[in-house]
Amino acid sequence: MAKRIRVKDIFSAETNHQYTVMGWVRTFRNNQFIALNDGSCLANLQVVVDLDKIDNETIKRITTGAGISITGLLIESQGKGQTVELVAETIEILGDCDPETYPIQLKNRPSLEYLREIAHLRFRTNAFSAISRVKQTLFYGIHKFFNDRHFVNVHSPIITGSDAEGAGEMFQVTTLDVNNPPRNEDGSINYKEDFFGKATNLTVSGQLQAELAALALGRVYTFGPTFRAEKSNTTRHLAEFWMMEPEVAFNDLHDNMDLAEDMLKFLIQYALDNCKEDLAFLEQRLIDDEKTKPQAERSEMTLTEKLKFCLAEPFERLTYTEAIEILKNSTPNKKGKFQFPIEKWGADLQSEHERYLVEKHFKKPVILTNYPADIKAFYMRQDDPKEGVAGPTVSAMDILFPGIGEIIGGSQREERLDKLLKRMEEMHIPAEEMSWFLDTRRYGTVPHAGFGLGFERLVLFVTGMTNIRDVIPFPRYPGNAEF
Ligand code: 4AD
Ligand code: MG
Repeated sequence: MAKRIRVKDIFSAETNHQYTVMGWVRTFRNNQFIALNDGSCLANLQVVVDLDKIDNETIKRITTGAGISITGLLIESQGKGQTVELVAETIEILGDCDPETYPIQLKNRPSLEYLREIAHLRFRTNAFSAISRVKQTLFYGIHKFFNDRHFVNVHSPIITGSDAEGAGEMFQVTTLDVNNPPRNEDGSINYKEDFFGKATNLTVSGQLQAELAALALGRVYTFGPTFRAEKSNTTRHLAEFWMMEPEVAFNDLHDNMDLAEDMLKFLIQYALDNCKEDLAFLEQRLIDDEKTKPQAERSEMTLTEKLKFCLAEPFERLTYTEAIEILKNSTPNKKGKFQFPIEKWGADLQSEHERYLVEKHFKKPVILTNYPADIKAFYMRQDDPKEGVAGPTVSAMDILFPGIGEIIGGSQREERLDKLLKRMEEMHIPAEEMSWFLDTRRYGTVPHAGFGLGFERLVLFVTGMTNIRDVIPFPRYPGNAEF
């Protein structure tokens, strides 16, 4: 192919030179002006078609969605709205696009619901290309943040034999014939004959393996796909999502909170610094959307205001016990407005409670700590009993964000073998199968802590989108594994 210049770069290229650009036609106005996009940035390049130089056959094939290559002279723009434009000397149609059947018509802005049905083509819209670039910036920002702090990235396995969260929400992995599996004498399935010689599943979290690495390398993080077979049909849940999990030896709960808060603030600032054009577009999109809502439901802040607001102050830190008191006495609880009323200590917090604390009560991000042991995973460090706290708690932390609810979940880990074994027994987690994990506690155990960031929830927050299915190219959720 001819050497081409990206649209993003041509805006700062020298004028009165000849360039070749390649991309897709967004619009073709008056048989004269092509808006060309090549994905390198949000803005389109205006290409002026010189009717004397381009033959009629070619002009007919310049339709929305067509893939084309254009060579021409870059000049300062005569019209408003752009600084430069390319005067086409030759146009080659690389791929035609039939305007009659092309599913993306830009006349009316296609709805997000409609675009979800044509997810294979939605990268071609401004919104999805903007989201994709913001996502890349956050992805790179995560690696930068941890690399700059001397963390080692560890690849945890995707196929495992364990349930890291002990919640049983796993997708099974097997090569056995599901219609006729080999059986033991008692009728149960004989997994010894399965591919791995045992029952396996897709990982729900890389944490357990991250702990093994942290207790030798000091600071590590995993970042990869995780899978949850939970039947949550919400705007915040995916069955397949990416999780980033740092794990740090010699960190306690407070160090863990500091790391998580620093990281979130770094990432938000990193996006603000590096995604100005895309964020401005997403912000305007949101403003246009809001206009269709009743006044009372509109948000008080624009997207960038909301992002900067999270950077301005320390996150509010309080214990679960303190939060329950606030929720118990809250107006929506007293007026019966919560779907799940808060009656007593020990209740699991639902998204409506998390969002009340963040959006109505504190009006800023919140870190809740020291949850009841019974609603948290087996590996969390058991707290000493405390006066005024109704039951046993663990050194857990959840970070709650406006519009999102839980964005991070983590804890200091139980490093004491006897206490961990006792808890596993209580929760019916087979210690024999977890012997490899317990070895860290047998040989040179030390205090350590870590957390998991749901990557798509971060992207959701930073882009101001409202449905998690719109920030991952091909969402998987109950009843859907298209594409
Ligand atoms: O709170 P979770 O379940 O914590 C863990 O898995 C720990 N092992 C993490 C750790 O300590 N290393 O999940 C962590 C985060 C949540 O806070 C949420 O942001 C995200 O992962 N998450 C989901 N995101 C999208 N869809 C789902 N179904 C999610 N489940 C959790
Ligand atoms: Mg959680």
